[in-house]
Formats: sequence, structure tokens, C-alpha cells
Amino acid sequence: MTQKSKFQINPWEFSGNIDYEKLIKEFGIKSLVRLPEKFQKNTLFRRKIIFAHRDFDRILDAVKNKKKFVMMTGLMPTGKFHIGHMILAQQMVFYQKLGAKIYIAVADLEAYNARGQSLEQSRKIALEDYIPNYIAFGLNAKNCEIYFQSSRSKDGRKSNAFYSLQNLLAKHSTFNEFKAVYGEITPGKMLSSLLQASDMLHPQLPEFEGKIPVVVPVGVDQDPHLRLARDIARRIKKPKFIQLSSTYHIMLEGLKRNKMSSSDPTSFIAMTDFPKEVEKKIKKYAFSGGQKTLEEHRKKGGNPDIDVSFQYLKIFEPDDKKLEEIYRLYKQGELSTGELKNYTIKKINTFLKQHQKKLKSAQRNIKKFLDN
Ligand code: TRP
Repeated sequence: MTQKSKFQINPWEFSGNIDYEKLIKEFGIKSLVRLPEKFQKNTLFRRKIIFAHRDFDRILDAVKNKKKFVMMTGLMPTGKFHIGHMILAQQMVFYQKLGAKIYIAVADLEAYNARGQSLEQSRKIALEDYIPNYIAFGLNAKNCEIYFQSSRSKDGRKSNAFYSLQNLLAKHSTFNEFKAVYGEITPGKMLSSLLQASDMLHPQLPEFEGKIPVVVPVGVDQDPHLRLARDIARRIKKPKFIQLSSTYHIMLEGLKRNKMSSSDPTSFIAMTDFPKEVEKKIKKYAFSGGQKTLEEHRKKGGNPDIDVSFQYLKIFEPDDKKLEEIYRLYKQGELSTGELKNYTIKKINTFLKQHQKKLKSAQRNIKKFLDN
């Protein structure tokens, strides 16, 4: 594998293999180490799927001292909800169980500006696919607000505060700063990033929760937005914001080790895929770390680190011992690519069967989440 391919990452496009070590250095984010047990118990933290952070100690403190905090994150509702989106959904549920108040922004305005998707289409996809999936993962309507960027609240006082914040943030930023953070930038993208900064900071306004620590879990491609929001927040005297905390998870690889992209169904497994589709996708497309022939595989062994089925098992196999055993056997060549794929197919399909049942009833409960 060459890491030389041109490496680039920003919130609206990224390409090339992601070198996480390099990202940590270049973005100035920190590795997550020595987490308390409550976090270690969570597969995503334990397996370093969530691998880095900014100012996360503030959140660990709040959890330890049973102080209130907010988990704020957002989604761009383009294309189908797929297994790459699971990582964030699971974190929403995790933080809610820890006692956090959950704020979720449906980035319909960003989808319009950055992707040219209509607000109606975004609303439809969010209501029919994304939000039901969060509910199916266990998100509770209590202590949770889901809103659309284009319509923050039916309470005028809250809405006014939210949209005014964007101007306050604009006042404290410069054009050069945008260029430095994003490279190429358009007025639409500029508005989107200021709006996202408002998403992240507004829970601290007096009209919402008042001064409160906020953690923003995101895919690592979103860090530029956090850098900008943090830089601006730091300069504002009134209101004085508590600096944002954030965590970063890996971008789950697409089936062919490409970018998992909602617009390319051969790159992902959707939560609504049928068992036969999952089987076909894994067998036909999932990049294999195995050798060309079974004979060679038995002799030389496979490479689980680049095998896509194995990467997915990190999400779908809850048992650490089993996962380690698979890793070892595959590396030694005792487990063949066919066997690894079959195991993965079975795991994913068992999960999806349960999940799809929950999805059916989730549709009915959506309203409670949007009543704010
Ligand atoms: N830009 C994010 C994405 O592309 C969506 C988003 C909007 C978001 N507002 C946010 C993420 C606030 C985190 C916090 O997925």
C-alpha cells in the first residue's frame, strides 16, 4: 500500500488513503489515551474507531462529577443511511445514556449549498431514513432535540437567538481565516461553516441551555469546521463560550476500499439492504487482504489490516476475543477469505434483521423528536 497518493481532506471532499497519524499531527488533534472505564467499555472507544479529540477532558470531568453537558452533532441527509453512519448513531445513544442532552442538526441548508439538494428532498430523506435509524439504534425523545438548519425552533425567541449567532460569529472571523482553513471557498460554503459553528455553539446561549460544556463527535473530515468555530469562539467576549470539545472517528472504508459514498451503492451496505444484497456486495466487492490462491493464502497468510470485511467486523463483532482470534487465524492463513467473508455476511445480516424490525416501529415515533 502506498501512502504517497496525494492526501487531502476537507469537509466537502476527501481523497487518497487517510493517514490518521499524519492527520493528528497536521490538524493538531490529540490521540485518545487512558479513558475511564465507562468509555473503555464502549467498543468504539476501546477499538480506537473513535481515535482522537480536542478538549475532551472537560467532558470526562462532567461525566465523573455528574455535571450537565450537551452532545451536539449533525448530519447531511444525502443518499442512504449506511453502515458508515452507524458510528455516529451509536455515539448519540451512548452519550444520552451517560446523561447528556442531545442536540442534532439536520444540515438541510448545507446540503443545499454544498450539494445542490433541495430543502424538501433533505427533509424527506431525514424523516424517512436518518431519524428513524437513530431511533432504531435506541435514541430516546427525552432529553433530545432534532432540528433542521432551515427551521431551528417554533419558539421565536430561540430561533432569533440561533440565527443571530451566525452574524456574531461572522463579525469575529476574517476572509483569510476561511481560506486558510478550507482552501477553496465560496460564499455558500462560508455560510455553511458559520451555520455549523452556530449549530455547535448555540446550546450555550441563554435561550437554550446557558453555559454548558458541549462535545461534538464527528468524522475526522469535519475538523476544519471545529477549528474555525473554536478560533472564533475564543475571540468572543459576550457571551463567553466554554470552548468546544470534540472527538473524531475514522471514516469507515467503502467496500472496495474507496470512499464510502451515498451516491455509489457498490461502496456501502445500507441499513435496509436485504440479506441477499449484503451477501452479494461482500462477496463481489469487499476488498480482500487475502492471497490470490488458497494455496498461497495458506502459505503466506492474509492481511486483516487492509481487509474490508475485517474492518466491518470491528463494528459488527462485539466479542473482543472472537475478533482477535479471527485476526490471528486470517493472518496465519488458517482462515480463508471465503470463510472470513461468510462470517462477516452472517454477522451483518443478523444485526440488520433485528435493526430492520426496529426501523418499522421507529417511523411512528418521529414527531416527539422534532417538537422543539
Ligand atoms: N457538516 C456535517 C456533515 O457533513 C453536518 C453538520 C451540520 C454537523 N452541523 C453540524 C456536524 C454540527 C457536527 C456538528 O455531516
